[in-house]
Amino acid sequence: MIMIDVQSILKQLTIEEKAALCIGSGPWTTFNIGRPEVPAITLADGPHGLRRSRDIDASFCQSLPATCFPTASCLASTWDRNLLYTMGKALAEEAIAQDVDLLLGPGVNMKRSPLGGRNFEYFSEDPYLAGEMAIGMANGIQEKGVGATIKHFAANSQEFKRYLLNSEIDERTLREIYLPAFEMAIKKAKPWAVMSAYNKVNGVACAENTELLSILRDEWGFDGLVMSDWAAVHNLVKAIGAGLDLEMHGPQLVDMHALVDAVRSGALDEKVLDRSVSRILSTIHKASKTPKGGSFDIESHHDLAGRIAGEGMVLLKNNGVLPLKDHGRIAVIGLSAIHPYFQGGGASRVNPTKVAIPLDELRRQAPGTRFMYADGYTNDGEFRQDMIDEATGIAQSAEAAILFIALPPLTESEGYDRADIDLPRQQVALIRSVTAVQPNTVIVLNNGAPVAMGEWIGDTAAVLEAWMMGQAGGKAIADILYGHVNPSGKLAETFPLKLSDTPAYLNWPSKANIDTSTVRYGEGLFIGYRYYDATDTPVLFPFGHGLSYTTFSYSNPRTTASRFKDADGTTVTVDVTNTGKVAGKEIVQVYVHDQKSSLIRPPKELKGFVKVELHPGETKTVSIPLDYRSFAYYHPSYKRWVTEDGDFDILIGASSADIRQHITVHLQSGSKLRNHLNHNSTVREWLEDSRARVILEPIILGIIGRMCTMAGSADSKNGAMNMTGDIMDAPLFVVFNYFERSIPMLPEKMMHYLIGKVNE
Ligand code: BGC
Repeated sequence: MIMIDVQSILKQLTIEEKAALCIGSGPWTTFNIGRPEVPAITLADGPHGLRRSRDIDASFCQSLPATCFPTASCLASTWDRNLLYTMGKALAEEAIAQDVDLLLGPGVNMKRSPLGGRNFEYFSEDPYLAGEMAIGMANGIQEKGVGATIKHFAANSQEFKRYLLNSEIDERTLREIYLPAFEMAIKKAKPWAVMSAYNKVNGVACAENTELLSILRDEWGFDGLVMSDWAAVHNLVKAIGAGLDLEMHGPQLVDMHALVDAVRSGALDEKVLDRSVSRILSTIHKASKTPKGGSFDIESHHDLAGRIAGEGMVLLKNNGVLPLKDHGRIAVIGLSAIHPYFQGGGASRVNPTKVAIPLDELRRQAPGTRFMYADGYTNDGEFRQDMIDEATGIAQSAEAAILFIALPPLTESEGYDRADIDLPRQQVALIRSVTAVQPNTVIVLNNGAPVAMGEWIGDTAAVLEAWMMGQAGGKAIADILYGHVNPSGKLAETFPLKLSDTPAYLNWPSKANIDTSTVRYGEGLFIGYRYYDATDTPVLFPFGHGLSYTTFSYSNPRTTASRFKDADGTTVTVDVTNTGKVAGKEIVQVYVHDQKSSLIRPPKELKGFVKVELHPGETKTVSIPLDYRSFAYYHPSYKRWVTEDGDFDILIGASSADIRQHITVHLQSGSKLRNHLNHNSTVREWLEDSRARVILEPIILGIIGRMCTMAGSADSKNGAMNMTGDIMDAPLFVVFNYFERSIPMLPEKMMHYLIGKVNE
């Protein structure tokens, strides 16, 4: 271990050396400034497996073999914090073995549309679930002395024009939807690093975004390293000024010289540069504490990858055909049964240590069964009726069919979005033809994000969402189909019926949009189930859905207090019983619904969950704590999280659409809010304040009364009543000036008096 005294080294460094430390020396290392006490450190992707370049100086080359774990869609569907922690530790072991100091993951961006190219790399449409998963994984990685990098900060929810696209997001949506997963991970896992996103947020590139970086550093207390995404810096001087520390990848020598010039000319205070350099030195110091080298256990990591895949796969539908019985002949159809589709394209692509082939694993599980195989489709998009006919023939002659359906390779990748959520025409035709002759058809899906199923799902016996399942997923599929693993995954994202039902449909960036440099997050807070709930839009499968081979009942719900102060929170407790015949795991979800709020809120939001394992007949009591933030929302006028007095429903469910129990509690708010009423506040807003209402109500009632008296006929009376609405929504000073001459003081003075009153 090299001892690094950050402050004393900082004093010895020249401006040139400091500037060099702020750029990478190549794609995967920090700059080696030639001082033995400041070694370069090594970075590598990524979120679900190590991608350590064989040639550390090459941007693109094959990486060293590493375990390819399931991608984030599958990981989040486990809802299992401990499993993610265990996986984090395994990733770190591989990093240590391959001389890597800092892992570039996990990614916690929100899935605002199923089209997002990197959705497979992101956890969820829900910030709380994504945050919890990231905490588990980052804690596991760092437990072993390797750094985790939370990425991509922030609002990187689409790939279209990703280097320049401006995500235009209102403040409340940013705070409530796009930032909390980062905030949770920063506060609870204390990651070594954060990677800024390619895109702009509200007009400013993330690497240079003072507002975002000061939320990260000043509000959340992040004192680690902020690095840019690869080639995402437009102006390094600005970026360092905003709070970025390291420009990747390197070496961007022009930027380095610009940094030196900026300090020499006084355009950038050297103290600001020192701030970044000391954060880089501290990271190097942390990294140097972990000796690198050695090897990792390929077999046990492969098994772990399989176990995680088995926990994350989601049984979407089952008419009882699963688990499979002892069939004599089973048709296995689909290319992905022999060439599994288990990861996506882009920087996260892992060179696996080995790959479990689904068809081989099925044969291993049921040696007495005759498995007959047909490709069913090619991966080049060609429509081949002959292949459909062949597959249909073997399906007809079997007792059951397992149909492996996968999106064509590289449909889902970093760098571009999906064009639609459809399966290839050949695969849809194949499913329809096979299900027409074989009632016991089980569909196994490999994809990183939802696909449309409306055309065919009604005719299938069962559907298993096997995701991008990682290198050992083939074994997990066989385990689930044969009941050696009881499925327990639940969806971390809603499966819509069709693309046009999805929240961001009209605000999705594409060439067809009017302004292709900006994506407006027009759906606001309402992404995922928040949108489907609020608009009553039917979905294919709701957020949180997933079947098991057993059943569970929920009883005896209670909270520690039915009236409580927001700062104290409350704990929800419920008894869960396995009412079926086999052991299984249930994911108990707790959503909170605010009965009345000043600003619109989603009908319900996930605020807690627990995964519990139960033997047949067994009951366990589970408890889920709810804290201040479980009840709060972000109020843009106060620029802070607030709570409001009132009743909240605590909804305990097996999915967002399957609420089994509910309790109503009363929250006492401790938010001491300075009143934000001003000249532009409406009459309605003024009347909501009890201090203002005492003074204003008689005046406003007087105006309304006079208007109604003046109105002669019934028609004009209605008109007068409509005018009442107009008055209520007009700024108070307009009403004073326009309608009221009899107030006790001049309108302007009256306004000042009232503003003083409500802020007393
Ligand atoms: C990706 C990052 C990745 C980096 C290094 C970028 O293109 O956006 O997620 O960590 O490359 O491979």
